[in-house]
Amino acid sequence: MPVHSHDEPLTYQPGFGNHFSSEALPGALPQGQNSPQRHPLGLYAELLSGTAFTVPRSEARRTWLYRIRPSAAHPRYERLPRQIVGLEQGPVTPNRLRWNAFEIPDAPTDFIDGLIALASTHAAEQAEGVSVHVYCANTSMQRAFFNADGEWLVVPQQGRLRIVTELGLLDIEPQEIAVLPRGMKFRVHLLDATARGYLCENHGCALRLPDLGPIGSNGLANPRDFLAPVACFDDRDAPIELVQKFLGELWSTQLEHSPFDVVGWHGNNVPYKYDLRRFNTLGTVSFDHPDPSIFTVLTAPGAVHGQANVDFVIFPPRWMVAENTFRPPWFHRNLMNEFMGLIEGVYDAKAEGFMPGGASLHNCMSAHGPDNATAQKAIAAELKPHKIDNTLAFMFETGKVLRPSRHALACEQLQVDYDACWDGMARIFNKELPR
Ligand code: FE2
Repeated sequence: MPVHSHDEPLTYQPGFGNHFSSEALPGALPQGQNSPQRHPLGLYAELLSGTAFTVPRSEARRTWLYRIRPSAAHPRYERLPRQIVGLEQGPVTPNRLRWNAFEIPDAPTDFIDGLIALASTHAAEQAEGVSVHVYCANTSMQRAFFNADGEWLVVPQQGRLRIVTELGLLDIEPQEIAVLPRGMKFRVHLLDATARGYLCENHGCALRLPDLGPIGSNGLANPRDFLAPVACFDDRDAPIELVQKFLGELWSTQLEHSPFDVVGWHGNNVPYKYDLRRFNTLGTVSFDHPDPSIFTVLTAPGAVHGQANVDFVIFPPRWMVAENTFRPPWFHRNLMNEFMGLIEGVYDAKAEGFMPGGASLHNCMSAHGPDNATAQKAIAAELKPHKIDNTLAFMFETGKVLRPSRHALACEQLQVDYDACWDGMARIFNKELPR
């Protein structure tokens, strides 16, 4: 069982949305059918569906699991006394918000106890739209977990993670991401002393690669750079707690066997990882710059055609070469709602105050853009090719307003003076055209 061996690089299967097949023992995957009367290795067949049976084939996500015991073999769930911090939505505010970096706690805290709910488009019990969390952990999970409320996009900012899933293992580090399908059991093992990062919970249709339109058949995130695990099973009959999140609440049951007992599986409803450094960043080579949708890694459609439930967008290292152009992100008021985080370095629209491990929220129609210092510097700059380097910011952009949690509005990380970064914008208006 290689779960605790951290030395060797893991094996993966490349591709996005593929119908993968993997078996840890020969014969674990039935040939020619999904559900034989008697499995040759004595495994139980179990279907994990991520979509309704009746959706169009292009939308359908499901995986067949061949396991030592079916998931149904568990006693009753009991509601946990300790729930996720910040589950309750706070009062409505149209204000621009920004938070300092969230601190790793001193007390032993695993990935689930280390979750802080920051914002959500809907109340937790509605499990619709998008919810955004940060996590701050210092202990590996000794328990297993699954989320019945949606898929999780995990964006590490600090500390490497080994994610043990029913379908196999994923190792991720800052500058990489993982996506965990709704219902997939997993536990998060810390490969470093501490771990911090961001989590986007997508309650809607699954994330997928964006259409490329006139860009053509290559560019942005390429499908072969997405990696799914290979089958890897734990056949220990040792007690382990299994926790689920169901309509926002944590519920727990006790298993007498490992839930990571899947010997073979096939399907397209899989956890996967992606290295953001593989993103083929595109941009202008003439003047102005495109909308930031050019930096979309993954997208999940919403109810309005073309308007995402959530877009995952990154601002990676890239060359700036545009001539006669205000090069930072322009001032804007957008329909979409923007939650931003910073993985490393400095974001090119903010001179200070937006820090790695921190966050900002600019909701529908809130006026924002580069801070005063950045704007004045950009107007005065002598333009020549310049590489924005050693930085990685990202955005969870949603079609519905993200309402901050009560905790997010009360915590000490909230910057009460965020608006001040636009104070003192110089009046540079001149009625006469320069001669
Ligand atoms: Fe923005």
